[in-house]
Amino acid sequence: MIPAITSMKGAFDLTGKTALITGGNRGLGLGIALAMAQSGADVAILCRDSAKAAEALEQLAPNGGKYRSFSCDVTDRASVRAAVAQVYDAFGQVDILVNNAGVSCVSELLDMDEELTDWYNVVNTDLNGTVHMTYEVGKRMRDAGKGGSILNITSNAAFIVNKTQAMSPYSASKAAVNHFTHCMAVELGKYDIRCNAIAPGFTNSELSRFIPRDMFDYINDQMPLGRFGEPMEIGALAVYLSSPAAAQITGTVQVIDGGYILSC
Ligand SMILES: NC(=O)c1ccc[n+]([C@@H]2O[C@H](COP(=O)([O-])OP(=O)(O)OC[C@H]3O[C@@H](n4cnc5c(N)ncnc54)[C@H](OP(=O)(O)O)[C@@H]3O)[C@@H](O)[C@H]2O)c1
Repeated sequence: MIPAITSMKGAFDLTGKTALITGGNRGLGLGIALAMAQSGADVAILCRDSAKAAEALEQLAPNGGKYRSFSCDVTDRASVRAAVAQVYDAFGQVDILVNNAGVSCVSELLDMDEELTDWYNVVNTDLNGTVHMTYEVGKRMRDAGKGGSILNITSNAAFIVNKTQAMSPYSASKAAVNHFTHCMAVELGKYDIRCNAIAPGFTNSELSRFIPRDMFDYINDQMPLGRFGEPMEIGALAVYLSSPAAAQITGTVQVIDGGYILSC
C-alpha cells in the first residue's frame, strides 16, 4: 500500500525517482521534464527528433541529475520495446511514466483521403502509443513491486467539440485515453501503480503555433483567465500528481485550461 504523507515536508519531492517522458524533447513534454528535474527526478526522454532531444538535455543539465534521451516511435511496438529496455539498462528503474507524445490534425472527417491517413496517424500516436508504452513500462513496474505513477497527457478537446477546428481523431483519441486511464487505475491499483490524466487546454508549444493570429485572439477572449497555458504549468501539475502528496489520487482526469471548457 502507498503510505499517506504525514507532513508537507518533502511532499512534492521526486528525489530518487526516474521519470520517463515521451515527447520530452519539446513543448509540454519539455515543460514536464524540466519541472520533474527541478523537483529532484532523473529524466529519460523518448522521442524521434534527436537534435531537439540534445537541446532539451542541455536545458535539464543545470539541475544536476541524470538525464538521457532515447530514440523511439511510440506507434511502433518494436521501437517502444527496444527504447524501454534501453531506459531500464541506463536507469535501472522507472517510477513515473508520462505518456505525452501526441499529434493532431485539423480536418473534417469527410475531407480526409480515402485511406483516412490523418485518422490513423492520430489514433496510432495518441491512443495506441499510450497503450504501447503503458504495456511495456507497466509490466516492468508491476514486476519491480515498487508501485509507480502513470500520467497520460490528454486534452480538454476530449470533452468539447471545438467549433473553430475540426479534429475528430484527436478528440476521440484523447477521450479514449481518459477512459483508458480510468481502466488502468482499477487494473493497476493492486500493484500500487496510480494512473491519472492531465487534460490541458490551449498551451504554448509548436503544436499551438499553427493557430492563426485571429483565432489565437478569439481563443484568448473566450478564456476566463485570458491567456494560453505554459508548459511549466502542465509540469507543475505533473509533479504534484506524481509526488507523495498525491498518493491517494488515481483514476482522475485533471483539466488545466484556464477555464476554457466552461465558456467556449
Ligand atoms: N499545445 C497544446 O495546446 C496542447 C493542448 C492539449 C493537449 N496537448 C497535448 O500535449 C502533448 C504534447 O503536445 P505539444 O503541444 O507539446 O506538441 P509538440 O510541441 O508538437 O510536441 C509533440 C511531441 O510528441 C512527440 N511525438 C509525436 N509523435 C511521436 C511518435 N510517433 N513517437 C514519439 N514521439 C512522438 C514529438 O517528438 P519528436 O519531436 O521527436 O517528433 C514531440 O516531442 C500532446 O499529447 C498533445 O496532444 C497539447
